[in-house]
This record gives sequence, C-alpha cells and structure tokens, in this order.
Amino acid sequence: MHIRHLSLTNFRNYGRLEIDLSPGATLLHGNNAQGKTNLMEAVYYLATTRSPHAEQDQQLINWDAGEADEPVVVGRIVAQIVTPQEERLLEMRLIRENKRGTNSFRREALINHRKVRLMDLLGNLRVVLFLPEDIQLVTGPPSQRRRYLDITLCQTDPIYCRTLSHYNKVLEQRNALLRQLAEGAGSRDLLSIYNEKVVDLGSGIFVKRAGFCESMAREAQRIHYEELTNGAESIRLHYLPQLQENRWPRSASANEPTDLGQWLHAQKTNMPAVRDKFRIALEQVQDSDVARGSSSIGPHRDDWRIWINGRDLSHYGSRGQQRSAILSLKMAEINWMTQQTGDTPILLLDEVVAELDEKRRALLLRYVQNATQALLTATDPGMFTDDFLQQSSRMVVQNGRIALENHLSNQARGSS
Ligand SMILES: Nc1ncnc2c1ncn2[C@@H]1O[C@H](COP(=O)(O)OP(=O)(O)O)[C@@H](O)[C@H]1O
Ligand SMILES: [Mg+2]
Repeated sequence: MHIRHLSLTNFRNYGRLEIDLSPGATLLHGNNAQGKTNLMEAVYYLATTRSPHAEQDQQLINWDAGEADEPVVVGRIVAQIVTPQEERLLEMRLIRENKRGTNSFRREALINHRKVRLMDLLGNLRVVLFLPEDIQLVTGPPSQRRRYLDITLCQTDPIYCRTLSHYNKVLEQRNALLRQLAEGAGSRDLLSIYNEKVVDLGSGIFVKRAGFCESMAREAQRIHYEELTNGAESIRLHYLPQLQENRWPRSASANEPTDLGQWLHAQKTNMPAVRDKFRIALEQVQDSDVARGSSSIGPHRDDWRIWINGRDLSHYGSRGQQRSAILSLKMAEINWMTQQTGDTPILLLDEVVAELDEKRRALLLRYVQNATQALLTATDPGMFTDDFLQQSSRMVVQNGRIALENHLSNQARGSS
C-alpha cells in the first residue's frame, strides 16, 4: 500500500500541509526542529491511533491554534491510501472544545468521510516505524514491549484488537471488585463470573501473542544470523506469558526460559487446555489478588525478551548488539506483516539511518527499496549513496512546510 496524498491541519508545527507522495522511497531532510519527526508521527498516528512521542494526545494539536480563543479547535490528519484492491480516505480528528471555561478533548475517526470507531481505523493503513529509541524495547520496562506486541498485532488482526479492548474493560471491573472484596464488600459469585470472562478473553490474547512471537522469532533469527551477522550471532525471542505465577526466573544469571510461549502456540487449536491452565492459575492466586486489590496474572502482565547466543540481551548485550537485534526484529516485522496481509506496510524511518554502520545501513536500505513506500528522515542527505538518492524523491522540511527539493531550488534561483 502507499499514501498518495497527506493533509495535516493544526497538527504539531503544521498549521496546514498538503503533500502528494509517490510510491518508492521519499527522503525528508532539513535542519533540526523543522517538523520531520512530526510528519512521521502523523502517519503513524493515523495508522495506529497512538503517538510514539506524546504523553497526551492533546499535545498533538498545534499550539498556536490551541491558544487562539476559539470554542472549538480541530487538528486533522487525512490520508488517501492506495492498496492493490482500492483507494480509501482515512481521517483522524483531534477535537478540543472549550465550554464555559472547561476544556474537553475527543477524537473522531473517519473512513471515506463516514465516522467509524477508532478501532476500525486500524488495519487500513499499516506501517512499520523505526526510531532510534526502539532500543528501549530491549532496555525498557515490560509495558513498552507489550505495547509493541499490541500495536503490531492490532494493525493486522481486528479480532485481536477487539478482544484486547474487551479484556481491558473486564480486567478493570475485576480489579474494582477485588478492591471491594478487600474491604469486606462485594460478591465472590461476581468474581467467578469475571474470572471466567478474563480466562476466556485472556486465553485468546495469550495464544495470538504466542503465535506472533513464534513467527517473529523465526524470521528475526533468519535475518540476524544470515543477513546481519554472517552466522556469528543467534537471536532468540522468548514470549513470557504471565499465565502462571513466577513462571520464569528474572535474574540476570538465569538460564533461558523454558518455553511456555511455545506450549501456548502449540495449543492454538486446543483452547480449552489454555483456558484450564489459566483458570487454575487464577484461582491459585485469588486470595492474594484480593489482598492486593489487583490482578497479578494475565496478559496485562506479559513480557518478551531477546536472547543473543544464549544470553539475555538486556543484561549482557553491548549497545551495538542491542541495536542490531532491534533492527533484525523490525525487519522481521516488515516480512511478517507482508505475509499476514499480502501487502507491504509503509516504512517510516526517523533518523535511524545515521546511526547504522555501512553493512547495517545497506541491509536496511534494501528493505526500503523493496517496500512499496518508505518515508525516511535525515538532517544530512549526504549519508545516502548517490544511487539511493537518485532512486528516491527528496523533500525539504522547513518550519512546518515541505517542498519538493527541485521545486525549492527553482524558487531559490528565481528569487536571487
Ligand atoms: N503541538 C505543537 N504545536 C506547534 N509546534 C509544536 C508542537 N509540538 C511540537 N512542536 C514543535 O515542532 C518542532 C519539532 O519538530 P520535529 O518534527 O520534532 O523536528 P525535526 O525536524 O527535528 O524532527 C519543534 O520546534 C517543536 O517546538
Ligand atoms: Mg526529528
């Protein structure tokens, strides 16, 4: 798939932007703080309904527009998407309203001008984003790794996404009830009902995550071992489902986990076995869950880890190894998404090419050149080979405006 046209209104430092994009690679370059990252964020946000950078979605609305004394301020991302089957228009609105001194914020999603649930937007525009901060997938907290699983799976699997959203709602209800029970109120019968729902929805999530990790592990290993390290490094990706209590050792010296993830994957046509295991585990921790007033096991506590040559990368890997592993993982994600959907995702590479050595850069750019569309940012286009530059469109980003490079240089010539 590719984006044919992108239009932004009051999004970050773009007051108003209309750009046509062509298939193939487009290099967006410009000095710092001009809007390169903001543009990538806009595309990613439309694809996933999540920002990789903002803590609150309200921050995405253009400041100047936000400060104007208007009762309603709307930020907009609109993209015309072309797939092998059809064209569609996707729109996300960020709406801030001021009614009698109080601010409210909401979002609206539209497909071909018709309002849809935010969740229904997912899967209509699929992207794989590369950021320098991706290394935090190795070094950061489990919540970040769960987020990665969920965003990636939600882009290809609407059922997963609905199940997850439903699970989170039931989990909240269960936690509220646990807190009541801790205070001597609430009903144990109701807890059994919530348990059953948690088990039912959670088991589906476990199995899908296990399947995803299994495929990604295989693909990442192939890329890492064959293409990236010439057989020097073996990479393993372990899914660590919180399906039972303390199931894997967390200490740095521990052996590789025995694979509950593999067991889960093998049960994909035997869901009752997964539900039984989860149900028994949930019952075992029930008293301590009541005492803590929260749910200690379930997919909301899952994690996954990367091991290189038999060692946990987060504890033992060098920075360079961590970077390479993430690169293999992301390239595996491109292949996985292509296999799942029969269509290549759009690649978004924000300032990642600069930090790679020549070999890694060449490999990544091969993926870029094979993609239907890729958007890359850089401060210095000089880091790309002439060959690559000749095959890509080039645009200059300057203070919330974007111009085709030859267009800009013509303008510059005209005014001198
Ligand atoms: N909500 C906002 N409204 C207006 N400007 C913003 C907003 N959020 C960030 N900016 C500005 O956007 C610029 C950063 O853009 P960015 O895309 O990160 O730059 P770069 O080209 O270096 O990637 C900064 O000048 C920042 O102040
Ligand atoms: Mg940037």
